[in-house]
Amino acid sequence: MADLLRLVYASEINFEPSTDGSTIDPVISGILAQSRRNNAPRNIGGVLCYGDGFFFQCLEGERWVVETLYDRLLGDERHRNMTLLSKRPVAQRMFKLWSMKFMNVDARIRRMLQIENLESFEPHSFSDLMVERLLIELRDASEKQRPAPLSTQGWSGRSRQAGATRELMPGLMFATATGVIAIIVGLMLAGLL
Ligand SMILES: Cc1cc2nc3c(=O)[nH]c(=O)nc-3n(C[C@H](O)[C@H](O)[C@H](O)COP(=O)(O)O)c2cc1C
Repeated sequence: MADLLRLVYASEINFEPSTDGSTIDPVISGILAQSRRNNAPRNIGGVLCYGDGFFFQCLEGERWVVETLYDRLLGDERHRNMTLLSKRPVAQRMFKLWSMKFMNVDARIRRMLQIENLESFEPHSFSDLMVERLLIELRDASEKQRPAPLSTQGWSGRSRQAGATRELMPGLMFATATGVIAIIVGLMLAGLL
């Protein structure tokens, strides 16, 4: 890509978190769904990290596309106090495979914070070195967190029903085939076929 930009910012959430950090908050699930839908066709990649009421996000892509997105983010009422931590042209992406990877702050990141004598995840105060270290940690971490249970997400359980139907399908087809064969054999025995 001709003019590849990596932009990193910190912000504070503007909503009441409804999970303890072991699952993905429903508001964050919504942000992620929107981000993944929009970023993929715009060739934007990156990572969103959440912990202790703060976001840390890295956006990578063509300069003007990333800058346009950043301007849009400034007006998003789900977060506030956006602070630009780093903005620089880069030769390569760190998050090639992700339209938007997500990580809750986990034990490994907490250990990193401890080493830097930081008691909580407050990305606004991160040094340039800390930003770089965290990006490497986020790049190398595997995305393990699951969305919060469907009941708390405010969307319908349709996808779960679809999954259950898919799982039952082979059994239903077997039962139907067995029934049809039994009827044919029964009719043959009765001399009707
Ligand atoms: C912390 C945070 C991160 C976000 N990241 C992205 C992103 O990477 N890409 C994106 O398109 N929207 C992102 N959004 C949402 C945008 O602010 C905006 O709501 C969205 O782009 C509008 O998309 P729509 O027009 O498809 O509804 C983010 C919002 C928040 C609060």
